[in-house]
Amino acid sequence: KGALRVRRIETQNELREAHPDQATVGFVPTMGFLHDGHASLIKRARAENETVIVSIFVNPLQFAPNEDFERYPRDMERDLALCESLGVDQVFTPSVSEMYGRQPVLTSVHVRELGNHLCGASRKGHFDGVCTVVSKLFHLVQPTHAYFGKKDAQQWRILKRMVADLSMAVDIVPCEIVRESDGLALSSRNVYLSEEERARAPQFNQTLRELRDALRPGESVAERLAKGCAKLEESGFRIDYLNVYDDETLAPLLHAPEQTPCLIAGAIYLGKTRLIDNLEWRAS
Ligand code: PAJ
Repeated sequence: KGALRVRRIETQNELREAHPDQATVGFVPTMGFLHDGHASLIKRARAENETVIVSIFVNPLQFAPNEDFERYPRDMERDLALCESLGVDQVFTPSVSEMYGRQPVLTSVHVRELGNHLCGASRKGHFDGVCTVVSKLFHLVQPTHAYFGKKDAQQWRILKRMVADLSMAVDIVPCEIVRESDGLALSSRNVYLSEEERARAPQFNQTLRELRDALRPGESVAERLAKGCAKLEESGFRIDYLNVYDDETLAPLLHAPEQTPCLIAGAIYLGKTRLIDNLEWRAS
């Protein structure tokens, strides 16, 4: 196999030199162990920009001490080969000390209301860690467009708000969720699932779809949710959260909206693995 054409760059200076005068720079931040979900963001960035940069960095700031930072799956060689096959120009692979070398880190980005519900409620500090690393990456890479998956429904909304609140000159582009044929949303964490758990996992998306199809404008969501949750729990899922949320504020809704869109979103544990998923809903 020949040498990879895509250059792995590790310092801020190298990165600056990589794209001096390009008008559009599309950026796809990732934590690696890339799958077709990541690939779809990269393809869209490739189609819409002159230069495409992917970052691979497992960000310790966004993991709580009891979470899976240490065992998060990694495969740099395979990731670089995929980036190359998709026509990525540069892959930025900083080390933890490159990103957070100046210890202690005293400054971070804190997000208020949007960060309180959904994953923010059970993963304290998570979105501060995401916002901090993404704002650092934006400063280093200086993209014009940054691509994020709608699978992380709260993440892209928070980042969109962050760039508005902090006047960052980058467009946040949300991209559709890529799923397995049985409905399971692709995730680097799916490799944690045992064979038996993998076989049960699509019930999560199935439940969200049933909720979406059953929900009527104006009706109380509690009863529908209770049914969906009970079914999941019977099948051995532990529910972190599952609810209907305002599309913009992400506040939980008591009633399905008549006019505005909303989000049916959840996080569940299957064994030790935490999976998230969501669907958009609007009164038709
Ligand atoms: P990671 O989980 O690697 O995801 C990188 C990007 O891929 C995110 O924008 C995520 O929403 C998107 N993605 C993941 N699975 C997807 C799927 N099935 N379909 C479509 N898009 C999908 O999210 C992160 O990394 C980190 O929090 C990061 C933003 C890199 C900051 O550290």
